[in-house]
Amino acid sequence: MSLAAVVFAAPVQTDTSTSCRSDPDCGPVPGESSIYSDYTGKSAPFPADSTAPVPATTAGPAREDDILFQNLLSAEWAAFSFYQQGVEAFNESSFIDLGFTNTTYQRIAEIRDNEAGHLRIFPGFDLNIIEVSSMAFLTGLAQQAKTNATTSALVAIAETESRHETWALIDIWGEDPFAGPADTTFAYANQILYITTASFIIPGSCPSENPAYPNPSQNLPQFDYNSTTSTGHPGSPITFVYRENKYTSKISVPDYVSGKDYYAVFFHGVNNITEPYDTKTNSSVIPAVFDSKGIILVVIADTPGAPTLDSVVAGPMILLQQPASATNITGIA
Ligand SMILES: *[C@@H]1O[C@H](CO)[C@@H](O)[C@H](O)[C@H]1NC(C)=O
Ligand SMILES: *[C@@H]1O[C@H](CO)[C@@H](O)[C@H](O)[C@H]1NC(C)=O
Ligand SMILES: *[C@@H]1O[C@H](CO)[C@@H](O)[C@H](O)[C@H]1NC(C)=O
Ligand SMILES: *[C@@H]1O[C@H](CO)[C@@H](O)[C@H](O)[C@H]1NC(C)=O
Ligand SMILES: *[C@@H]1O[C@H](CO)[C@@H](O)[C@H](O)[C@H]1NC(C)=O
Ligand SMILES: *[C@@H]1O[C@H](CO)[C@@H](O)[C@H](O)[C@H]1NC(C)=O
Ligand SMILES: *[C@@H]1O[C@H](CO)[C@@H](O)[C@H](O)[C@H]1NC(C)=O
Repeated sequence: MSLAAVVFAAPVQTDTSTSCRSDPDCGPVPGESSIYSDYTGKSAPFPADSTAPVPATTAGPAREDDILFQNLLSAEWAAFSFYQQGVEAFNESSFIDLGFTNTTYQRIAEIRDNEAGHLRIFPGFDLNIIEVSSMAFLTGLAQQAKTNATTSALVAIAETESRHETWALIDIWGEDPFAGPADTTFAYANQILYITTASFIIPGSCPSENPAYPNPSQNLPQFDYNSTTSTGHPGSPITFVYRENKYTSKISVPDYVSGKDYYAVFFHGVNNITEPYDTKTNSSVIPAVFDSKGIILVVIADTPGAPTLDSVVAGPMILLQQPASATNITGIA
C-alpha cells in the first residue's frame, strides 16, 4: 500500500493537542490503523509527533497499575526515539551499502511504528539490547500487574518485542533466531529500566510534570565487565568494572561490609545460579552450566538468589549471548 493510501484510509491525526492524545477515541487506533504497522514516512507518527505531557484527566491517588504503565510508557518513549532517530538519519541505501538486505530500512521504520503504537496503547545503542532488555523487564512488570487485563497486555507487547528481536537475529546478524525454551525472567523490572532505557534519557529533557523515572528507583551502582579478561559467555571468569553514575558523574560502588559475603547472582531462562563474588578483585565466574542462548542477567547481592529487591546491591548487567559476536557491546575493553 502506498503512503498516500495509508494516509487516506487512516488519516494521521493532525490535532496533537493533549486533549486528543488523552482521548482514546481521537486519532488512529493500534490494531486498526496501518500507521502503527507499515507507515514508512520520516516524520514521527501520532501520538509521538508531540512530546508535550498529557496531564492526568482525574485527580486523586494513582489507580491500579497506573505507575506500572507510567514506567512502561517512559521505556516505550526511549525505544521509540531510538528507532525514530534511525529512520530520520538513514534511508534504504544506507543499509544496502552496509551489506544488509534491501528490506532493512523498512523493517526499522515498521518497528518504529510498533513502538509508536505502544505509546498509544498505554495511556499515559544497540537494537538487540533494547529488545532483549524490554523482553526481560516485561517479565518483571507482569509480576507487578494487579489486573488480568494488564498482564495480558504485557504478554502481547512482549510477543511483539520478541518478533523484533527475531527479525534482527535473522536479517541483521545472520544468526539462529531461537533462544532456547524460555527467555530470561527477572523480577525487578525497574532495575532493568534504570540500566537500559534510563541511560538514554538526557537529564532535564523530560517535562517537569513527569515523575522520576523509573518510579521508584533504587539508584543502584552499575557495572560493565572487562572484555579483555572475560568472554562474557558461560564458564568464563568475569571482572566487573563499576561505572560512573550519569547523574553524579562519580563512580558509584556498593558500601560493602567487611567480612560479609557477597554473591553474583546469574539469571538465565527461568532459573538463577549464585556464585561467590570477590569484593577485592571485583570478580566472579559465569556459571558453566548455562547455554549460550538469549541473555544472561547478573546482579551483585548480599543474599544467595537475590530473593528480595533490597538484597540487590549493584546491577543488573545484561550479558548478550545472541548475537555472540556482539558481547562486547556491554563489555568494555
Ligand atoms: C540516502 O542517503 C545518502 C546519504 O545522505 C544519499 O547520498 C542518498 O542519495 C540517499 N538515497 C536515497 C535513495 O534517498
Ligand atoms: C530486494 O532484494 C531481492 C533479493 O535479494 C530482490 O529480488 C528484490 O528485487 C529487491 N527489491 C528491491 C526493491 O530492490
Ligand atoms: C483473573 O482471572 C482469574 C481466572 O479467570 C479470576 O479468577 C480472577 O478473579 C481474575 N482477577 C481479576 C483481578 O480480575
Ligand atoms: C582489563 O583487564 C586488563 C588485563 O588485566 C587490564 O590491563 C585493563 O586495565 C582492565 N580494564 C579495566 C577497565 O579495568
Ligand atoms: C572485545 O573488544 C576488544 C577491543 O576491540 C577486544 O580486544 C576483545 O578481544 C573483545 N572481547 C571479546 C570477548 O570479543
Ligand atoms: C574494583 O573496583 C574498585 C571500584 O571501581 C576499584 O577501585 C578497584 O581498583 C577494582 N579492583 C580491581 C582488582 O580491579
Ligand atoms: C532465585 O532462585 C531462588 C531459588 O529458586 C529463588 O528462591 C529466588 O527467589 C530467585 N530470585 C529471584 C530474584 O527470582
